[in-house]
Formats: sequence, structure tokens, C-alpha cells
Amino acid sequence: MNVKPLNLWLAYPDDLLDEGVADACRALLSEEELARAARFKFDRNRRESIATRALARTALSHEHPLPPEAWRYVLNAHGKPSIDPELASGSGLSFNMSNALGMVVCLVASGGEVGVDVEPLSRAEQILRVAPEVFSAAERAQLELLHGAEKLDRAVSLWTLKESYIKARGMGLAIPLDKFAFVFGGAEQVRLEVDESLNDREDRWQFCLLDHAGHRIAVMAERRAGYELKVWEAHPIPEPALRVSALTAEWFPRQSS
Ligand SMILES: CC(C)(COP(=O)(O)OP(=O)(O)OC[C@H]1O[C@@H](n2cnc3c(N)ncnc32)[C@H](O)[C@@H]1OP(=O)(O)O)[C@@H](O)C(=O)NCCC(=O)NCCS
Repeated sequence: MNVKPLNLWLAYPDDLLDEGVADACRALLSEEELARAARFKFDRNRRESIATRALARTALSHEHPLPPEAWRYVLNAHGKPSIDPELASGSGLSFNMSNALGMVVCLVASGGEVGVDVEPLSRAEQILRVAPEVFSAAERAQLELLHGAEKLDRAVSLWTLKESYIKARGMGLAIPLDKFAFVFGGAEQVRLEVDESLNDREDRWQFCLLDHAGHRIAVMAERRAGYELKVWEAHPIPEPALRVSALTAEWFPRQSS
């Protein structure tokens, strides 16, 4: 089987409280990225932005022999960055990043669209309060059957999976959130249902959920014959990253053998 590596990188914005680490991260960024980070009012948001961009550059350079500071991106019409095709002809890499105050992540694949989202587990109650606006009818019906911790847990899973899907599609909130659903249960364990108005095929995607350091991460990738998800922790960036071997991914929808 042709197993494609899929690399998920994790880092912690608070590591940039160390000025040496913050300087090392800033040194990797473009002028435009530095200017974006400087526009944030609060230090914590600046650290989050710098960490995200430094992590992405570090992760890409792990897969292709280009120095971290050399990567350039182009944006699609909805703001999704991809590698400037003029720069990296032949690298064939696709990537997506996500940030939260406590953790930033970057997913790198060798081809195919990918999307990733990270959320702190502590956001569960806040997510549950906006369920009517963000979850589809099928998702809400299943959510209403749950109680307590299970309900909170499902809310975080749904949010991160939905974000990872709209990010993999590269369209963000231009995709109506009620036009697709993650349905739990049955042999597939979790499956994606997509309204035909979205011009997509459900069997195009596979996805997984991981928990680490108080955060949930959803990974969405175009289906391949086989995928191996490797998780790397840069603690701090840009030190050599360590493989987090304790994190193993369970892919959905489960295939019947
Ligand atoms: C813009 C959006 C794509 C991501 O929003 P976000 O909350 O900033 O999400 P994340 O932290 O996960 O991702 C940010 C990164 O996504 C990338 N991104 C931006 N637009 C993107 C797009 N259209 N598609 C994919 N990735 C995109 C960027 O790299 C960005 O990093 P940057 O801020 O350093 O540039 C979109 O999903 C959104 O606006 N979400 C709002 C939250 C919401 O209501 N979600 C509903 C979930 S049920």
C-alpha cells in the first residue's frame, strides 16, 4: 500500500514568553507576517500569531529543503494560504494552520487538500450555547440526546470537525454550516453528510480527532490509499521537534473490512 505521510505539528504560544524564543520565531517571519502580528492589541494574540507562522515555516522546511524564512504563500479568494507555486515547484506540499491562545497547529501533506482546527476543551460550554447557529439539524438532534460531559465533548468534536471541513475546502464560512453534518454512530463511527448544493463528495474525505494538552484537534484530508499521521511537538519553536508517539490517529469514517 502506498502510505502517504501526513504531519501534524503542535506548538505553544506561551513558549514565546521567553524573549530568546520569541526572537528566534520572529527571525523566521516575513515583513508582512511581522506587521500583521504587530497589529494585535494584546501580547497574547501577538504570541499566538507569531507562533502559528513560525511553526508553519518550520514544519514545511522539515518536508522540503528550503529554509523556513524562504517560504512564500498565495491566498485563495477566501483567504486560505497555500505555497506560492513559483517558489516551490516540485515540493507538492499542501498545508493548513490553526491557532488558539494555548496551542497552535500546522498540518502538512504531500498533496491533496487538508484542513485543521484546534480548540481548547474548556470552550465546550461556550460552543454549546451557539449550537443553534452553527450545527445542522442532524447534528443538533444527536446532541440533544446526550447529557453532561458527553454533550460537552460532542460539541467540541462537532465544532473542530466542521471547522476542519470548511478549511479543507478553503472556503471558510462561505460554506453554509447547516449544509453538511458529522453524524455519529453505526459501523463508520463518524461520517460526513454533505448537501448536494456544496458540490462535493462525502467519500472524498477522511478525518480524525486527537486530544493533547487540554485541546482537541480535528484533521481533515483528502482520502488516500493509506495515511500515516505523524505528530510533532516543537517545544519551543524552532528547536528540533520531537515526535509525539503516544498520539495515534483513528481515521473516520471507519471502512468495513
Ligand atoms: C476564517 C476561518 C477559515 C478560520 O477562522 P479562525 O477562527 O481564525 O480559525 P483558525 O485559527 O482555525 O485558522 C486560522 C488560519 O486559517 C487559515 N485560513 C484563513 N482563511 C482560510 C480559509 N478560507 N480556508 C482555510 N484556511 C484558512 C490561515 O492560515 C489562518 O492563520 P493566520 O491567522 O495565521 O493567517 C473560518 O472558518 C471562520 O471564520 N471561522 C469562524 C468561527 C466559526 O464560526 N466557526 C464555525 C464552526 S462550527
